[in-house]
Amino acid sequence: MNVHIDQAKQILVANDRGGYTVPTDRLYPFQWNWDSAFVAMGFALYDTDRAYRELERLVEGQWADGMIPHIVFHQPSDTYFPGPSVWRTKHAVPTSGITQPPVFAIALRKLHEVAGRQAEARTLPLYEAALKWHRWWYRARDPEGSGLVALLHPWESGSDNSPAWDIALARVPTTTDTPVVRKDTGHVNAEMRPRDEDYKRFIHLVDAYAACGWDPAKQWKKAPFKIAEIQTTAILLKAGEDLEHLAGLFGRTEDAAEIAGFNDRTRKAILSQWRPKLSRFVSRDLISGDDVEAATQAGFIPLLSLDLDAGIADALVTEMKAWSKGLKVAFPTTKPGIAAWEPKRYWRGPAWAIINWLLIDGLKRNGHPDAAEELRKSTITAIETEGFAEYFDPVTGEGCGGLGFSWTAAAYMWLTKAASTAARVQ
Ligand code: DGY
Repeated sequence: MNVHIDQAKQILVANDRGGYTVPTDRLYPFQWNWDSAFVAMGFALYDTDRAYRELERLVEGQWADGMIPHIVFHQPSDTYFPGPSVWRTKHAVPTSGITQPPVFAIALRKLHEVAGRQAEARTLPLYEAALKWHRWWYRARDPEGSGLVALLHPWESGSDNSPAWDIALARVPTTTDTPVVRKDTGHVNAEMRPRDEDYKRFIHLVDAYAACGWDPAKQWKKAPFKIAEIQTTAILLKAGEDLEHLAGLFGRTEDAAEIAGFNDRTRKAILSQWRPKLSRFVSRDLISGDDVEAATQAGFIPLLSLDLDAGIADALVTEMKAWSKGLKVAFPTTKPGIAAWEPKRYWRGPAWAIINWLLIDGLKRNGHPDAAEELRKSTITAIETEGFAEYFDPVTGEGCGGLGFSWTAAAYMWLTKAASTAARVQ
């Protein structure tokens, strides 16, 4: 028995708060949306009941319009800012007012496949929830039908302080109605976290959307930050493929046709964001109309959900290799050496196990199993050397941010596939 698998399972036990898993103690004391989807895939390897619970508890936070919020505040905690009183949302269970990358349906398909046909009754309500959410994405975040979905807050990307937002976020005022009382820097070194100025802008956006009563149409009109985002859209497309597959299994032909329509539109839209001179896909800033050219991991995530021409896939892999050269741990979330690169600061350089997981799946899909294997091994070695840290400094390999991190534990199990029932999951 691999001792690290035992440790990974223990982390999920320690972070369990009653059917849902906090990302880590104190720093993130609630249920986070995409964290829980990754965690559910981890549980799917050895405890399908617990995996379903994770997703079911997340859906308790789903809004009537279909949005699944980025945080569900199941129980109070005073170790996190901003809490429910800052968000001022109206759902029965307190939640944040923004969303996060839609990994949910990817997890649901994997879970359904391991749980088998007898689990249909349990999968179906979650399938319905996912479909409602995907409709919300296209209605609320792509009202013009471009095929790319937009983020109105950097936190929605999950890559909070990525250099991808630097230009757009600089336009957001630092004034806030809500006093900014950070708690995160009491738990981890401030040099590993977003800057105070970023937080002021993050909270300015929360205040602005709360003033819209969290109405999606009003927010769309007023948003001072609006990015048609490539990583989120690529994840939505993969989740859309998995949802379409489930619709087929359940004989939901009308749903399947509707989802296929979303997927086709998005596939074409992502392809139109390919920039040969950068060897990456790019997001679009919907306020300035400009491409977001910042060199971040997001530009490679379309590997996950498109069957790319060999020319594009090869160019992406060559670029990824150039970024990874000489690093202890791949894959850096910012291109090493550029002005924005900070190898310890959260999303401005560090390597994250869950991003690697998405890239590994994408590299395999696009005919690059060797590059996938190299990245898989690099991720496993980083975790086995440093533990289940939130992320890793790619230069030194140091585990950074929160420790005992749930999604790093889930990623480890998934990437080693050594848990007892792992062999059944593909
Ligand atoms: C945080 O608080 O740092 C989270 O990433 C926001 O979701």
